[in-house]
Amino acid sequence: MYKKLLKLTTLSVASLVLFSACDEQSVATTNIEKAKLGEKLFSDKTLSKNKTMACATCHSLDNAMVDARAKIPNHTYNVNTGGSLGDDNVSIGDRNAPMAAYAFEAPDFHFDNGEKIYVGGFFLDGRAHTLKDQAKGPFLNPLEMNMPNDSAVIARVKDNADYISELKKLYGDDIFENDFKAYDAVADAIATFEQSSTFKTFDSKFDRLSDGDYELTSLEEQGKKLFEGKAMCVACHPIDGYHPLMTDFTYDNLGVPINKELRALNGVKNIDKGLGKEVNDASLDGAFKVSSLRNIAVTSPYMHNGVFKDLKTVVHFYNTRDIEGINPETKEIWDRPEVPQTINDVELGDLGLSNQEEDAIVAFMKTFTDKKFEHLIK
Ligand code: HEC
Ligand code: HEC
Repeated sequence: MYKKLLKLTTLSVASLVLFSACDEQSVATTNIEKAKLGEKLFSDKTLSKNKTMACATCHSLDNAMVDARAKIPNHTYNVNTGGSLGDDNVSIGDRNAPMAAYAFEAPDFHFDNGEKIYVGGFFLDGRAHTLKDQAKGPFLNPLEMNMPNDSAVIARVKDNADYISELKKLYGDDIFENDFKAYDAVADAIATFEQSSTFKTFDSKFDRLSDGDYELTSLEEQGKKLFEGKAMCVACHPIDGYHPLMTDFTYDNLGVPINKELRALNGVKNIDKGLGKEVNDASLDGAFKVSSLRNIAVTSPYMHNGVFKDLKTVVHFYNTRDIEGINPETKEIWDRPEVPQTINDVELGDLGLSNQEEDAIVAFMKTFTDKKFEHLIK
């Protein structure tokens, strides 16, 4: 079971309690300035090859930090398919953009020697070990922002005089002497922004409940009981404690089927082995990071490949995967798992939930939505 890790290394912009009183003020001020710079970089389309996309394109600050682009003209692709269209307007990634909000709360990637399992890290397969490492990836990913190398990104950064002076001020006058160092500073500023209050409001109905400012409806209450009991969701998405992240940051293979619609567009043929490929261990093939369920009602489509569009489909999948249930979206029996040999058949697959109980769980999960995104709930 996941034990709350004390994250002494991650400086949150809002909570800098680890410094002696005299340093506290200046560190806090520096971090606020870094976060402000990071915010500009996060939304800057000029940092992609054709200047069409920024981090915020796939992690929209107005849409729960996921890819919520309207239908793209003259394209068969749309975000509901799963995956994301890249800066070249052709490439479509094979994984669905996860919510960047609350992502920073993951511990750095590590092997838990006690439990003998991998925990934490960034990306759905944990391949970036820290939040700063993660931020260095998308600029250079040919399917995403498509820049050729870090020097090319820094050349674009230098096109903006404000960036030059701010980076020098915050990271030292010599920061541009070495592109590697400058790229690291850009990633650091973005990672600082990703830890700011923009990415964690903790003001959903669920949070207001523990503050005594919200009462669950009887349907939500029923859903909560099921979530913690018969449906066993808390085995991987714990909701106890103050401001839980609703993930234990471990990895599991749920037996998610291939997203055929997406694969028809992006032409990908290989099996997505997830964590197993990263750590070179076939027994972990098909395992992906347990998702946070914060804002889950407004971050469709679902699963690492976006194969399910509706939240209730996900619950129905957990409920009936192993008993020849019908996928309500395709009206056919669930497709076979992409990686059948390692699936978890202990905690899911045949939960014995009624249709009404599935509805209750969905209603409960809607209470996980940040106040500013509540208007997006359908
Ligand atoms: C073209 C769309 C796209 C762009 C642009 C993009 N991302 Fe992502 N992002 C994704 C996808 C897809 C994943 C999951 C990829 C994977 O697991 O392999 C992801 C994963 C992440 C994660 C990990 C979340 C987690 O829970 O582990 C973070 C954080 C993140 N992106 C931040 C950024 C930042 C910062 C930038 C800009 C430097 C950026 N993204 C640009 C699509 C995008
Ligand atoms: C054994 C661990 C485990 C249990 C039990 C579990 N989950 Fe999950 N959950 C995961 C993992 C791992 C993922 C990511 C899987 C993937 O993308 O392939 C996930 C993903 C999800 C997603 C999609 C997240 C996204 O952003 O796309 C939802 C919704 C969800 N779970 C809800 C539930 C509910 C509701 C229950 C109880 C009925 C439950 N989970 C039980 C491990 C678990």
